[in-house]
Amino acid sequence: MRIAIISAEAVPYSKTGGLGDVAGALPKALKQIGHDVVLITPCYWQTKGEYLWELAIDDLWVTWKGSSYHAKAFYSEANGSPTFLIDAPSLFHRDSIYGYSEDHERFGFFCHAALELIKRIGEPPDIVHLNDWHCGFAAVELASRRMSDPYWRATRTVFSIHNMAYQGGFGLGDLPSLGFTSRFAVNAFAFNGYASAMKAGLEVSDTLSTVSRRYAHEIQTAEFGYGLEWLTRQRSSRLIGITNGVDYEVWNPATDPELPAHFTIDDLSGKRDCKRELLERFSLPVELDRPIFASVTRLTAQKGVELIKKGAGDILAAGAFFIALGSGEKGSEEFLQAMRDHAPSRVGVYIGYNESLAHLIEAGADMFLMPSKFEPCGLNQMYSLRYGTVPVVRATGGLDDTVENWNAVTGTGNGFKFSEYRADKLLEKIYEARFAYEDKEAWSRIQRNGMAIDNSWENAARNYVDLYDRTLNNG
Ligand code: ADP
Ligand code: GLC
Repeated sequence: MRIAIISAEAVPYSKTGGLGDVAGALPKALKQIGHDVVLITPCYWQTKGEYLWELAIDDLWVTWKGSSYHAKAFYSEANGSPTFLIDAPSLFHRDSIYGYSEDHERFGFFCHAALELIKRIGEPPDIVHLNDWHCGFAAVELASRRMSDPYWRATRTVFSIHNMAYQGGFGLGDLPSLGFTSRFAVNAFAFNGYASAMKAGLEVSDTLSTVSRRYAHEIQTAEFGYGLEWLTRQRSSRLIGITNGVDYEVWNPATDPELPAHFTIDDLSGKRDCKRELLERFSLPVELDRPIFASVTRLTAQKGVELIKKGAGDILAAGAFFIALGSGEKGSEEFLQAMRDHAPSRVGVYIGYNESLAHLIEAGADMFLMPSKFEPCGLNQMYSLRYGTVPVVRATGGLDDTVENWNAVTGTGNGFKFSEYRADKLLEKIYEARFAYEDKEAWSRIQRNGMAIDNSWENAARNYVDLYDRTLNNG
């Protein structure tokens, strides 16, 4: 099957969160099971030069705002599959990847350029796989072109929702300048008096997927649908949940180059060396028998930071270390810094984005906190499972699907999870985990139960291939 995957971010070229991990790994997994895949993503100022293997197209002309815009495309296989990176410096060479008032223009352009590029490089793809609101423009453009351009006639679209909370809203008045003037296009974007790129993608793509089974149900409810639940309900027969995988070439404690020592399910001794290194890195006392609760996260309301704030005192009272790596909302950053200042021998905080430190924390910590308010899939809890770091999570979205509560009687389960979004419920689980940690035999069982789980991309990629097949067969 010929598949083109379009994404606003993809590892190793760019990443702000899990979308980057997924878009980098899925094409590689599809290629490994024999499909003809190409990934298309922007070339940002943040994309390292070493990943731009060659300038493949230096005259990519894109119709844009009524005239012809000159872009280029680099070629790479740094993620393990053929990739084209669209280079349009005025739009993508910026201090950050997202967060500009004209983001709809930046990704509108990217979508037009991606479709132009696909046409330029060969035969039509069977499937164009679109991701999140940034690709809503491509969904509408492709659906429109299919009616007039024979090249696209047989191509079908799959639209994946990674986060319903970000919908790419902008003024309806901007649609003409983005090239969308037909009644079909305007209707697709129109939502409550403004334009929504997410809504357009959900409405016109041939099939829809999201990144866990539970989230596929949740986004059909008012609590998680952010106003679009009527549409996900309307299209529910075309919506499925496929849980993300883990790239075990990148996240593997037996080989991870970021770690001072390695370990496996059969020999966890190296994990203690990682713990030592982690404590030293944060200038904390090297007390190896004191548990470390850790968190690596974007600091947004989604991630349940408010529960950690409320529970912070009790985490320390439970006699544990607390280590956090994250960036985002100012208030949360300040809170974490204040927590460290209050208990400098127990708390380690790094404000910022640091890939290498994220690996060391996964390896060196004992428990990983993810009390998310909502979580479409979540990757860190799956990384934690593989690194023998026991997840303490809220039962929502992918967290509920991938973490099983520890049961001391049967010896089953790989983590601790609570349901109600309340700090006291999180604390109960923190205390339960703290208690289990003291029982070395039980703890080792919980760790090994988690490490034994296979969340590899191969399974997820096969599920996507089934979805692509169904999409092609359903018209
Ligand atoms: P989301 O995409 O909602 O942020 P996920 O759990 O799916 O959540 O993915 C988050 C990804 O981003 C993980 O790979 C995680 O390690 C990484 N990450 C988040 N914050 C940071 C940070 N401050 N430094 C390094 N990596 C981070
Ligand atoms: C989003 C979600 C996260 C998911 C990731 C990759 O950023 O917040 O839960 O794991 O996308 O699908």
